[in-house]
Amino acid sequence: MTAEPSAEPSAGGAGAANSAGSPAGVPVAAPRHDDSLTTENQARAALIDTCRELNARGINQGKAGNASLRWDRGGAAGLLVTPSALPYARMRPDDIVWLSLQTRTQADSQTDSQTGGAPPTVPAVIDSNGRRPSSEWRIHRDIYAARPDAAAVVHAHPPHATALACLASVQAAGIPAFHYMVAMAGGNDIRCAGYATFGTQALSDTALAALAGRRACLMAHHGIVALGASLESALALAEEVESLSRMYHLACQLGVPPVLGDDEMARVLVLFADYRPDQAAAPG
Ligand code: 13P
Repeated sequence: MTAEPSAEPSAGGAGAANSAGSPAGVPVAAPRHDDSLTTENQARAALIDTCRELNARGINQGKAGNASLRWDRGGAAGLLVTPSALPYARMRPDDIVWLSLQTRTQADSQTDSQTGGAPPTVPAVIDSNGRRPSSEWRIHRDIYAARPDAAAVVHAHPPHATALACLASVQAAGIPAFHYMVAMAGGNDIRCAGYATFGTQALSDTALAALAGRRACLMAHHGIVALGASLESALALAEEVESLSRMYHLACQLGVPPVLGDDEMARVLVLFADYRPDQAAAPG
């Protein structure tokens, strides 16, 4: 299905419908929006700034990665996402793509076995400017649909985190609580999502599973995903995951780092709720 963005930009403010869905009568938190952004043009520019910043900080390189913001239009729950394969230096606000959270493609309704394991048909979605959304638009869409705490999502290929995500041991056990700041990702480890071809629904599914109760995860043989209550916090978390990965790599060169106990990590998570409210335990 092709999304049909309205011509009129509108702020994606609070009060939008919660698309996460819930059984009747079960209260669900309202979806978060990045309150620092009031106009859609501001939001589009902020997405490009965030991607350029990812590269400037060494958390990503070239035209890897992508970023999105929860952004509703005229009562329709949706997101703004970077376009596919366009270098960040050339990206302009008009290139950012808006998608409804209801966006589906024919490929979405096919299982991997139905497509013979082939990558999904790429056409998926093309917006009114002729831009294709990031090939990982399913990950972004699915996070906003399932996680009311997510207002922004960043996907990147940071060197240290990605190197760890290529190791069988890390794919199996994630990054353990070798350092208390692991709690910034929402729990007592940073999980690694299983491998699936880029751009597939299977990759989105495995990433969502690894993000349960967390705000960030590694992706096997691929990179990381981080979400936050704002673009700034998603970017900061991506940077923290890369920094922790570098430290973990260094510690593992020197020996076998012991791991902080679950009780200590639970204490840290409680403290983070005050000290870093945006980094308190993530809902599952
Ligand atoms: P896009 O340019 O399509 O966003 O893809 C980059 C990427 O990192 C895919 O995983």
